[in-house]
Amino acid sequence: MKVNVPPIKSQGIKTKLVPAIAELVPDNFTGTWIEPFMGTGVVAFNLAPKKALLCDSNPHLINFYQAIATNDVNAIIVKEFLQTEGDKLLIKGESHYYDIRERFNKNHHPLDFLFLNRAGFNGMIRFNRQGGFNIPFCRKPQRFAQAYITKIVNQVDHISKLLKTKDFSFKCQDFSETLNSAQESDIVYCDPPYIGRHVDYYNSWDDNDEKKLFQLLLKVQSKFILSTWHHNDFRKNEYIDLLWNQFHIFTREHFYHVGGSEKNRNPMMEAIVANFCIAPVSALSVYPIARQPQKSVKIPDIEINTISLR
Ligand SMILES: C[S@@+](CC[C@H](N)C(=O)[O-])C[C@H]1O[C@@H](n2cnc3c(N)ncnc32)[C@H](O)[C@@H]1O
Repeated sequence: MKVNVPPIKSQGIKTKLVPAIAELVPDNFTGTWIEPFMGTGVVAFNLAPKKALLCDSNPHLINFYQAIATNDVNAIIVKEFLQTEGDKLLIKGESHYYDIRERFNKNHHPLDFLFLNRAGFNGMIRFNRQGGFNIPFCRKPQRFAQAYITKIVNQVDHISKLLKTKDFSFKCQDFSETLNSAQESDIVYCDPPYIGRHVDYYNSWDDNDEKKLFQLLLKVQSKFILSTWHHNDFRKNEYIDLLWNQFHIFTREHFYHVGGSEKNRNPMMEAIVANFCIAPVSALSVYPIARQPQKSVKIPDIEINTISLR
C-alpha cells in the first residue's frame, strides 16, 4: 500500500501503521470512520473512507484541515505563502522563525501553523502551559528550498482533492464526546497519547484518561481499533494487563528515534487492540490469543460487567 504523508507532521504520526490498520477494515465497510484523536490525519486520509468524523482536542490541527476543506488554504495559497516566508527566513535567519511563532501564538493562523510545523525542530508539535507553540527553530534558514515547498504543496493538494470527493467533518472536541456519537455501523480508530511518554498542553494523558477511554470503549456500539504501546526493552505497558487484554491484541515492532539520532534507535512493541475478531493480518502478530470474555472483572475504580467481544 502506498502511504501518502500529510502536510502536517508530528512525533506521534502513525504513517507506518497505516497498512496494518487498513487490513483490519472490512471491504464492505460503509459506515463512518471515526477518529477521536486524529492528530495529523494520516490514517483517515490514507484509508479514504466515504464518510469520516475526525476530531482532536488540539484546535490548530482541526483549523488547518478545516481551512483546506473550505478552500481557505489550498495548494496555490500555500505555495505563495511558503515562498514569501521562506525567502524572509533565508535573509533574516532564525529571528524570522521566532517572529512567526510569536505571530501564530496571537493569531492562530493555519498557514503560520504549517510554517512552524515544517521549520521547527524535528517536525514536532508541542505547546506550553499557556497554550503557546514552543518548538525551537530547526536551524536551517534555507529550509524552504523549492523542492521542499513543492513537496508540501503536493501534500496539501492531495488533501484538498480528497476532501472534495468525501464527506469528512472535523471537530475540536474531547474524545468522550466523539465516542458518544459512534453508531453500530461505524468504526472508531483511537490513537490516544501514549500514557507516561509525551505531555504538553493538548497532550496530557493520565491514568484517569486511560480508564475513561477504556470504559467508553467497553460501551461503544461500533467496532473499535486502538493503538497503544505494549512494551520496550525496559518496561511493559501496565494497562495492557489491567485493561486492554480484555480485547483482541496484535503487536508490531516499531523503531522510534530520540532526538532524531540514528544511534538512539529504540525498539518498541506497539499494540493494536480491537473489539472484533479479525483474520490474521500480515503486518501484525497476534499477542496473546485473545482472552475469553469474563463475567465480571474488578479493576481499580471501575467495575466492569459482561464484556462482549464481537
Ligand atoms: C498520538 S496523537 C494521534 C496521532 C495520529 N493518529 C497521527 O497518526 O497523526 C494523539 C492526539 O490526541 C490528541 N488528544 C490528546 N488528548 C485528547 C483528548 N482528551 N481528546 C481528544 N484528543 C486528544 C492530541 O492533540 C494528539 O493530536
